[in-house]
Amino acid sequence: MQAASPRLPFAVKPTAHPVPEADRLKAFEALGFGTLFSDHMAVIRWSADKGWHSAEITARAPFPIDPAASVLHYAQEIFEGMKAYRTADGRAVLFRPQENARRFNESARRMAMPELPEEDFLAAVEGLVKIDARWIPQGEGSSLYLRPFMFASETFLGVRPSKEYIFCVIASPVGPYFKGGAKPVKIWVSETYTRAAAGGTGAAKCGGNYAASLVAQAEAAAHGCDQVVFLDAAEHRWVEELGGMNVFFVLEDGSIVTPPLSGTILPGITRKSLISLAADEGLTVREEPYSFDRWQADAASGRLKEAFACGTAAVVAGIGAVKFSGGEFRIGDGETGPVTTRLREALVGIQRGQTNDRNGWLH
Ligand code: COI
Repeated sequence: MQAASPRLPFAVKPTAHPVPEADRLKAFEALGFGTLFSDHMAVIRWSADKGWHSAEITARAPFPIDPAASVLHYAQEIFEGMKAYRTADGRAVLFRPQENARRFNESARRMAMPELPEEDFLAAVEGLVKIDARWIPQGEGSSLYLRPFMFASETFLGVRPSKEYIFCVIASPVGPYFKGGAKPVKIWVSETYTRAAAGGTGAAKCGGNYAASLVAQAEAAAHGCDQVVFLDAAEHRWVEELGGMNVFFVLEDGSIVTPPLSGTILPGITRKSLISLAADEGLTVREEPYSFDRWQADAASGRLKEAFACGTAAVVAGIGAVKFSGGEFRIGDGETGPVTTRLREALVGIQRGQTNDRNGWLH
């Protein structure tokens, strides 16, 4: 895909104090997730009288924020997660960024926020990646994680949509999301907490969904698990999604099941890409409800061969074991299975420019 032609003019103001090259290289030696940041950020402001204005790429710096800014009280905030990769032939590429631009606006609509024209979203991301291209790590499993977000910045305590917003993109060189790297993860099934109910904000990528998941995630960690998985809010029966990832099940006949987008699940771009890649590999994918009872029964009978979590940050992570208040069970032999590995490699191969991008997903 070609570079976007921005609707808004971006003022580019390179930082006067870039991180010294030696410090950047040192920091690249031990990349974790979300602790290291590049030199710049992209910012666009919105106000009810001017619409979108003041687009700039500038030095990364804190925002002065009034204590009455409405985001601090009513959490009117949305975000995206996407990555820039360095291909073997030296190109800097983004994976399906238009999907993020589109989903960002779906989240904006749900949270009564202004939509940002897709070309401006893309221009902000591209502008940041261009100016901070040296921050894209090259090693396997590493990338430049991009975090576009928007928050309500009006100084106002009434409960109504803000009349001012700040859209921003920051960039963070990252390694694997899970500390154990490619090791299969262990999942805790939350029977106390749910993530989203019908009519709620489950399909929007808003900070509140993640805030609400933290107590359940802490419960998971207390039980020695890497991630929490939520069941539906109405019946506490159907598997929905993890704290920040979608989930897939691989059955013995080779078919794959993933919970349908019912409005309470985040429509993951990795999820959507894997459904398409699995079909390309001749696998049948069914988007259908999968109950926790069935999960236990299928794992016990051996009908369930593999399960995996997926998302931009986590990529594709095998699920080795599942723990809940009534016990614990293993999936397959507890290792990352062959279908999970195959799909992961197919996805990563495209993202890193190693395999034919026949769908035109790289930008
Ligand atoms: C992502 O995968 O990009 C997310 O936004 C999820 C978050 C848990 C890091």
